[in-house]
Amino acid sequence: MLLHVTTLLTGATGFLGSRLLLGLLTTRERHVTVLGRGAASELRFRVLAILEGLAGGGIGARARSRLRCVGGDVTRPWLGLAPAVYGRLAREAESVWHCAGDIALTGERERLFRTNVHGTERVLEFVEATPPGCRLVHMSTVAVAGGRRRGVVAEEDLTDAFGFETHYDESKYRAETLVRDWARRLGRSVVVLRPGIIASEAAHREGMPGHPLRVLGDMIDTIARNGASGIPPAVSLRRDGLGLRLRVPADAEFNILPDGYATEAMLRIGHDAAEDLGHGVRTFHVVHPRETPMRLIVEAVEAHHPGLALDCVGDLPDPTPVESFVADHLPGFLSYCHHRRVYDRGFAVEWTDGLPDPPPINRVYLARAMGFAGAAPHTGHWMTAGM
Ligand SMILES: NC(=O)c1ccc[n+]([C@@H]2O[C@H](COP(=O)([O-])OP(=O)(O)OC[C@H]3O[C@@H](n4cnc5c(N)ncnc54)[C@H](OP(=O)(O)O)[C@@H]3O)[C@@H](O)[C@H]2O)c1
Repeated sequence: MLLHVTTLLTGATGFLGSRLLLGLLTTRERHVTVLGRGAASELRFRVLAILEGLAGGGIGARARSRLRCVGGDVTRPWLGLAPAVYGRLAREAESVWHCAGDIALTGERERLFRTNVHGTERVLEFVEATPPGCRLVHMSTVAVAGGRRRGVVAEEDLTDAFGFETHYDESKYRAETLVRDWARRLGRSVVVLRPGIIASEAAHREGMPGHPLRVLGDMIDTIARNGASGIPPAVSLRRDGLGLRLRVPADAEFNILPDGYATEAMLRIGHDAAEDLGHGVRTFHVVHPRETPMRLIVEAVEAHHPGLALDCVGDLPDPTPVESFVADHLPGFLSYCHHRRVYDRGFAVEWTDGLPDPPPINRVYLARAMGFAGAAPHTGHWMTAGM
């Protein structure tokens, strides 16, 4: 039977995987087999709808013909595939991009480990069955640096010496450790990509995967407009002139980068440069050269909610109900606020072949990414209803 050489991609219905899929099918003209949950026909329908949403229209018959979808689950033995299908896909794979993951920062440990750690183990078993030249591109994150708060994190660094802020960080750290050990043991080639917080300023459309800043913006909007359960009613911070304090050091910084830059950098490293990277494990920080100060995020929120004054404080001994609510619902985000570390990106810059740095992240970009742009600023009382 004729082999159909292809890139196998997990996570293609997600925020990041869908963008990589679009690039692999269109600008790189690759044949891609998407492995994802649900029946193959439903998966294909979902994936094509997302691709068309991203591309702003159809992706063209040729790109569509290069896409194949297979129903599977990374947490299940044989990736949930029949052994014959598993064997055929493995023989056909020339590279595997593993982007499926659980990104719930505050998720339960067991759930995160099931997808991120055991799912990665299943993918490694699959890659073991592929031809020796088949390369794995593993999607990690800068969060594997865990509880390290200061200093420069090198692209080769991987340690649990600082502990972890969240179960998510730890699960991604364990997954990356597994990948490295596996590659060394079997002499296989792996590209590990560690992005910062990837954002998009495109307007969110129903059915399209969201991103972390958008989730934050939606939460702020929801509380502002509708209140939140468990908070006593008739608390109007605006009317009472209280403002809202956040347990966030005022000098907190985040590494936020635009999706367009992140996707192109990853394709240049994981696809275009792959042949030249040599053997073994190569790790890349796909990050913005400048951290985004918390102050800018605060300004973007305040501009959209004129009644709201956010005050960043390191400690909050006497939180109001609203402040407790925010702290309880954003523990992952808040724990990252203690980081003043930066990420070396020397290898990533070297292997992205002159790709210009992303523009600085400013207040307008953040407002769009949080879903505030286009919407009229909130003019009613800040946090009245249901609180
Ligand atoms: N977004 C970021 O800013 C960011 C930053 C750093 C690192 N990352 C890493 O990038 C990867 C993708 O993140 P994302 O933002 O694209 O997440 P996402 O939008 O939540 O997408 C997750 C993807 O994984 C799939 N998936 C989850 N469990 C699965 C399973 N058991 N079997 C098969 N597929 C499964 C989901 O499929 P369904 O559609 O069926 O749920 C979806 O396609 C993750 O590994 C994450 O750690 C993301």
